Amino acid sequence: MIIICPKCSRKHNVSPDVVKPYIGTGKKKLTATCKSCKHRFPVLLDALFAQNGHSETIKKFKARKICVTLSKGGVGKTTTAVNLGSGLALAGYKVLLVDTDTQGQSGYMLGRKPVAGLTELLTQELTPRECILEARKNLWLLGGGKSLAGVKRIIDRKSFGAEWTLSEAMASLEREYDFIIMDTSPGWDQLIVNVLFYATEVLVPVALEVMPLHGLSEFLKSLGSIQKYRKEIQLKYIVPTFLDNRIKGPQNLYAQLKKLYPEYICPPIRYNESLSEAPSFGKSIFEFAPGSTASADYRQLVRKVSLNENALV
Ligand SMILES: Nc1ncnc2c1ncn2[C@@H]1O[C@H](COP(=O)(O)OP(=O)(O)OP(=O)(O)O)[C@@H](O)[C@H]1O
Ligand SMILES: [Mg+2]
Repeated sequence: MIIICPKCSRKHNVSPDVVKPYIGTGKKKLTATCKSCKHRFPVLLDALFAQNGHSETIKKFKARKICVTLSKGGVGKTTTAVNLGSGLALAGYKVLLVDTDTQGQSGYMLGRKPVAGLTELLTQELTPRECILEARKNLWLLGGGKSLAGVKRIIDRKSFGAEWTLSEAMASLEREYDFIIMDTSPGWDQLIVNVLFYATEVLVPVALEVMPLHGLSEFLKSLGSIQKYRKEIQLKYIVPTFLDNRIKGPQNLYAQLKKLYPEYICPPIRYNESLSEAPSFGKSIFEFAPGSTASADYRQLVRKVSLNENALV
């Protein structure tokens, strides 16, 4: 699309990918800087699409693909994937939640028992539509579970292109959603490598409990080795979890994280028992305890990720 500088009239060719994250966020304008005369000027997003004949562009954009991952177990990956996905859906975005974990907990947390899921999609036994379950309004689930262990073996045995297996299976789904949120298992295996070859954004929950920085830096090294082969995957968000303001340790760890990773750090998710109780009722935090601090914290995260300050207000 073309943006013209109002001062020097220079025409700039801008990729639609630059404005893609702002679609559906309610944001009306961006500030552009002219590469020639350095003039800074506002660009109205609606006018930009209309003027460039892209009124249909919004529909054609692919989903943002965000994986929630960290090799360390029990840090709040599934809790974050489920509640971020639920919150985005409540804010009106179309969300596909993909559970790539053999524990299959995303479905459990939403009170759903999918009969088919990611396994059948990857083995092509069923069509994508048959594998996906509508869990809530605007929220669809591609379930995980034990059967994924067999899929991992199939991926391992492929003689070439193994890391693209998930990307190939998901390709037809990308234009149907605004967000594809992926929950991953702890550890490091072929399925996680597949997720990192498919997603474009990485969200890392970091539990402010024990040795979080070690786990994070180890994971970032592994991510770096993937980035050598796949430039599109980027660390976008570090979400501190289990923040307990009554004790000093977690607060110090949070301060350290803010200092080390200022560009990625998100507002923390505080320790809150409602988060561990909600799954046994098959409810998201917004359904189970809408007035809780946990619900407030996940609302903040929804706003941060969607770039929409008015989401869920
Ligand atoms: N902020 C929080 N406050 C209190 N409990 C929490 C919080 N976040 C998550 N929990 C609870 O902590 C436990 C671990 O969380 P969760 O299952 O989301 O972690 P995980 O990283 O997905 O674990 P795994 O690596 O095993 O997949 C769960 O029982 C969950 O309900
Ligand atoms: Mg989990």
